[in-house]
Amino acid sequence: MRLDKFLANLKIGSRKEVKSLIRNGKISVNDKVVTIDNFKINPEIDRVFLENEEVFYKKYYYFLMNKPSGYICANKDNLHKTVFDLDDRLSLYDCHTVGRLDKDTTGVLLLTNNGKLSHNLISPKKEIEKVYILKTIFPLKQEYVLKIKNGLTLNDGYKCKSATFEIIDEFTGRLTLTEGKFHQVKRMFIALNNEVVSLHRERFHTLTCENLPTGKTRQLTVEEEKSLYS
Ligand code: URA
Repeated sequence: MRLDKFLANLKIGSRKEVKSLIRNGKISVNDKVVTIDNFKINPEIDRVFLENEEVFYKKYYYFLMNKPSGYICANKDNLHKTVFDLDDRLSLYDCHTVGRLDKDTTGVLLLTNNGKLSHNLISPKKEIEKVYILKTIFPLKQEYVLKIKNGLTLNDGYKCKSATFEIIDEFTGRLTLTEGKFHQVKRMFIALNNEVVSLHRERFHTLTCENLPTGKTRQLTVEEEKSLYS
């Protein structure tokens, strides 16, 4: 099969786009860069890479993003930049975000086209852990640890599930939640008469952004994919 046809079939881009990827040296076949678009490959045997990432047909795609501040978690928005603007593959593979992070929140964000898995991961019954590092405007108090453990009541009357809070320094803490209500972290600190001034998600279930720079996206490894089902 022609290399450009193979790549276009996998939705790496239009025929024109994949030709330009090939000519620009972005594609390698079995560890050798190939710059001829009518190069013939055997899809059963040859291994094709786009900038060091192997490409092959997959039903489901899983992307890990280290979300930067300033991007919203929505597919399209006329006013704001969205996380889909950061990597073309996300729209190409019809991905959605698994849950949402606020525009100013940074850190671990999972995106996939596997609706069943994302439904499972955000289901309150699953109690998936989400770990946040937060900074507050007023000093943190030791009493927060117990209050959060006992389940805070938000200003709208919602009683949060028991959560874990650890004070890192005067204004920095680590909060582990097993639920994900709208603006939950910020609303918890409002209920404590404090205010979150920066929020970073350090872990979502088994996933962390170690070695993934802010603003970058990569596909999950097979091990990471499997770990989502644990
Ligand atoms: N809680 C918040 O308040 N904001 C987020 O982005 C995530 C959790």
